[in-house]
Amino acid sequence: MTITEPRACVIGHPIAHSRSPMIHGYWLKELGLSGQYGREDVAPVDFSAFIGSLREKGYVGCNVTLPHKEAAFRLVERATERAKQLQVVNTLWFEGDTLCGDNTDIEGFLSNLDDQAPQWSHSLDKAVVLGAGGAAASIIAGLKERGAREIVLINRTLERAEIMAKRFGPTIKPMDWSGASDALDRCSIVVNTTSLGMKGQPALDIDLEKLPPTALVTDIVYVPLETGLLRQARERGNPVADGLGMLLHQAVPGFEHWFGQRPTVTAALRALIEADLTGVRS
Ligand code: ATR
Repeated sequence: MTITEPRACVIGHPIAHSRSPMIHGYWLKELGLSGQYGREDVAPVDFSAFIGSLREKGYVGCNVTLPHKEAAFRLVERATERAKQLQVVNTLWFEGDTLCGDNTDIEGFLSNLDDQAPQWSHSLDKAVVLGAGGAAASIIAGLKERGAREIVLINRTLERAEIMAKRFGPTIKPMDWSGASDALDRCSIVVNTTSLGMKGQPALDIDLEKLPPTALVTDIVYVPLETGLLRQARERGNPVADGLGMLLHQAVPGFEHWFGQRPTVTAALRALIEADLTGVRS
């Protein structure tokens, strides 16, 4: 019998920018495991056939990223509750012959905050989420899981926030940006899920005056690592959590499925990815 080492990959289109190979490569080396993790650029038209022949290609599983996350959900034979809730999958693996899928962005978001702001969810009450795109859905699901009583969802296009509110129920209060500063009053967490503040994008302009000093401020943008929102919050004394940890933590469950050991998000891994991001920026 030939024993081959487990191989996984990240599938996207485009895919060259993905940092997943660096993250999984780091863990494979750190844990002394044999295995490989690569990149596959697959166009939407070829995606279904690619997933259908994943095993023949020698893969034990994969991550999927834009634009394939919804298509991946439709292709898996068994989905986790979180994946079913969002109808989006980013991590695939086999259990026997069954192709399974999970959405690990929720875990990534929650574990990052547990790590950077321990016990944050003990005081979770009213949350403010900026943005109502694809990323916002995972954040809302995570906040609901941890018991948020009210989630004010602020979006430039109000209709998109209203659609999200219909999907997630009465906990969600949709609003446009004109209500953003007032919505911060008595909130316990603010999450930016828009692309505002990202390198090359417009700045996120929000007045934090009404934000309680204990409220946690977090951003899913991680280039730059300290966004304008996080800097503004830090300078007025609020606890902050940057978005890089979400990227690192969402990778943990996939690695465990494919390579058999649960890896840890360490300061050394963060430093490695941070150095890479800084290199890209300069
Ligand atoms: P993703 O799936 O990564 O969340 P997306 O679906 O394109 O990406 O969503 C991007 C989010 O950033 C949206 O909430 C978008 O607001 P709209 O729904 O009104 O488009 C928000 N966004 C992007 N650029 C923005 C800008 N210049 N001002 C305000 N909001 C912006």
